[in-house]
Amino acid sequence: MSVPFATIEHLADHVDETVTLRGWLYNKSSKGKLHFVQLRDGSGMVQCVLFKKNVPESLFDEVGTLGQESSLSLTGKVVADERAPGGFEIQVEDGQVLQVAEDYPITPKEHGADFLLSKRHLWLRSRRPWALLRIRDAVIFALREFFSERDFVCVDSPMFTPNACEGTSTLFEVDYFDRSVFLTQSGQLYAEASAMAHGKVYCFGPTFRAEKSKTRRHLTEFWMLEPEVAFADLRDICDLAEDMLCHVVKRVLERRRTELEVLERDISKLEAIQKPFPRITYDEAAQILLEDPGSEFKPGDDFGAPDETILSNRHDRPLMVTHYPSEVKSFYMKRDPEREDRCLCVDVLGSEGVGELIGGSQREDDLDLLLERIRKHDLPREAFEWFLDLRRYGTVPHSGFGLGLERCVGWIAGVEHVRECIPFPRTIYRVDP
Ligand code: 4AD
Ligand code: MG
Repeated sequence: MSVPFATIEHLADHVDETVTLRGWLYNKSSKGKLHFVQLRDGSGMVQCVLFKKNVPESLFDEVGTLGQESSLSLTGKVVADERAPGGFEIQVEDGQVLQVAEDYPITPKEHGADFLLSKRHLWLRSRRPWALLRIRDAVIFALREFFSERDFVCVDSPMFTPNACEGTSTLFEVDYFDRSVFLTQSGQLYAEASAMAHGKVYCFGPTFRAEKSKTRRHLTEFWMLEPEVAFADLRDICDLAEDMLCHVVKRVLERRRTELEVLERDISKLEAIQKPFPRITYDEAAQILLEDPGSEFKPGDDFGAPDETILSNRHDRPLMVTHYPSEVKSFYMKRDPEREDRCLCVDVLGSEGVGELIGGSQREDDLDLLLERIRKHDLPREAFEWFLDLRRYGTVPHSGFGLGLERCVGWIAGVEHVRECIPFPRTIYRVDP
């Protein structure tokens, strides 16, 4: 009779049965006639016990010599054991070594961040990156689920573009046959076109910024999810962002408990993420900062990372800051009709001091005003002609925002640095591996 294959995350379906697991040796210890193998198979980790008299002698001897990350399959009985991590243990009866790995460079001891990043292709297998990237997966799934349930259509934007969406200082220019174009900083302008075709859309893909800053919040390549909604105003997209973040946190709590435990995440902080999120204006936020001795904020400035930390640390849930000075924001944002020097925009700052997760706005929908903004920002009008068509043919009020995926994952997982929240991080100093 052939033994069925099983995966570690579904061992509960196989209690007292004999199954075969295929994976890698994460750790091993031996005591006389016993080997204890920590086997990982991608879906989880389980302790496999080899008792000398219950397994072929050659297997027992071979396992005794295996180095970390050797690949093997083990067949044995699944036993429920409350004391075992994960609640199960495998009593091994047979098995096969696929490859004997020697001198695996990442050992369970502490390594420096730089070393680990240079070995990212292997580091992915360790507990912490494993947990984080599974949380990232659940965040992506929950986001798509959220928008799909609300009848949004996913329409993706191109990566090559002639348009500078977010200013000209962080553009990556690339040779494109006989001309030069940029790697996209944001899919927004194209999402606006799609919204006029489908009503409610989102795009979700990699975006690029030649960020010279070396901070824990900045990558040069990061993923952004950008909804865009026809007939929506600033308040509508604030509501949308609030619902979206609550949904994502709820789903991660449901689906990725084990991973949050691996990261020793304080679950109560996530359970506190409930509607309504506090909403304040830039002017109110400015007042708070001016009264805070720890802030170097000057009126009229954009908020720096330390300012955002001060603001978001005041609440146990994300904080929405609206109506920034138009001066510090992007060309496409609609001005507040009640106050020309402010725009109808929102930044959502994550709780626990993590800073900006989301930037969004109502869009300038008037052709002449938009033209004036393009001139004021010194942007080349030719490159924006197609975008101006959206204001020539059936312009309507509309709004949208962009969520930085890695910042969102870091916030939920309680991880400081965004470089851990993407499989292969690209920063000013790193494009390898
Ligand atoms: O605030 P940003 O620049 O907004 C836009 O790009 C808009 N066009 C989005 C829109 O309205 N459709 O960027 C949006 C979010 C930020 O809040 C942040 O979470 C993330 O993208 N982000 C970065 N994440 C990692 N590394 C960087 N260098 C980032 N720059 C922005
Ligand atoms: Mg922003």
